[in-house]
Amino acid sequence: MRTIRITGTGSALPGRIVTNKELEQMVETSDEWIRERTGIGERHVSVGETVVTLASEAARKALEQAGKRAEEIDLILVATCSPEQYLPCCACQVQAAVGAVNALAFDVNAACSGFLFALNTADAYLRTGLAENALVIGSEVLSKLVDWTDRGSCILFGDGVGAVVVKSTQDAPWYAHLGARGERDILWSGGMGSEERYLHMNGQEVFKFALETVPQAARTLLAKAGMEKEQVDWYVLHQANHRIVESVARRLKVPLSKCYENIERYGNTSAGTIPIALDEMAEQGLLKAGQWIMCLGFGSGMTWGGALFQWQDKEEK
Ligand code: ACO
Repeated sequence: MRTIRITGTGSALPGRIVTNKELEQMVETSDEWIRERTGIGERHVSVGETVVTLASEAARKALEQAGKRAEEIDLILVATCSPEQYLPCCACQVQAAVGAVNALAFDVNAACSGFLFALNTADAYLRTGLAENALVIGSEVLSKLVDWTDRGSCILFGDGVGAVVVKSTQDAPWYAHLGARGERDILWSGGMGSEERYLHMNGQEVFKFALETVPQAARTLLAKAGMEKEQVDWYVLHQANHRIVESVARRLKVPLSKCYENIERYGNTSAGTIPIALDEMAEQGLLKAGQWIMCLGFGSGMTWGGALFQWQDKEEK
């Protein structure tokens, strides 16, 4: 059976770092409150970098790691909810920047679940033979949608991008489960040009939603794969709040040490969190061939989802 495998990863972050201490000068908050309630210590914020420039940088790294030339890519998907420009889509702009002249390119918007939705779309294209090699990117510059006077939300978000190259292969196990529940008022933004552009969030409702859907998505994936939770080597959760990761781990009864976390350094980069984590883990040598990885996310929409797969075997590139 045709399935997909990740063969390369990359990431890119803006150079400017905003610490919690700096936020203390902007809104009534404290480093202590932010760390205790969210686990966040600092975040990267773009000064000139865009969804497209960061995505192109991450894409080049992922291509290099996968040993693929840009011309070999026949599908580019950019998951984003913070494009600076509506037309052309970010994926077409990345295509031009990296020179992937043979690719089909379009954007996917499922907010913080966006990378998993894009990965699942790539899976559908590759499984059915519509494409062979895809670049899947989660790219966000949410700092432009954040109301920097709202202490309830501005402390949470950061900018950043992660990218993966996936190729069509035979019989590599790959399971996915995604969902959407149309609900506008929990987490929304009017968009860049709108007077109501800023991100509005009911934090406690988002928290509740995550704990309702994410553990259930994990159980569904395990059932689909016929696996036990202990067989999963790494749980890579959307980095929205350390307390959410902790609560999901507790509900699933999996050790926190199996849940990769980097929220302390980046905050919530929305569609960027999962591919950034995968890139860091690959770079640190934490991901070994044959290991089982479960990625899980949730976001505005409201949307949620997960993917369960085995890490690449280098020889297969
Ligand atoms: N600094 C200090 N105090 C604050 C801050 C702050 N930055 N923000 C809120 N407070 C205050 C509140 O005003 C409130 O004060 P009160 O008790 O006097 O009324 C108190 O702290 C408690 O506020 P809560 O909202 O109850 O705090 P909570 O523990 O729920 O934490 C948080 C808030 C961090 C937002 C949490 O609810 C959360 O992380 N929710 C999930 C958010 C999330 O994941 N969003 C991203 C979704 S992904 C996407 O699609 C973009």
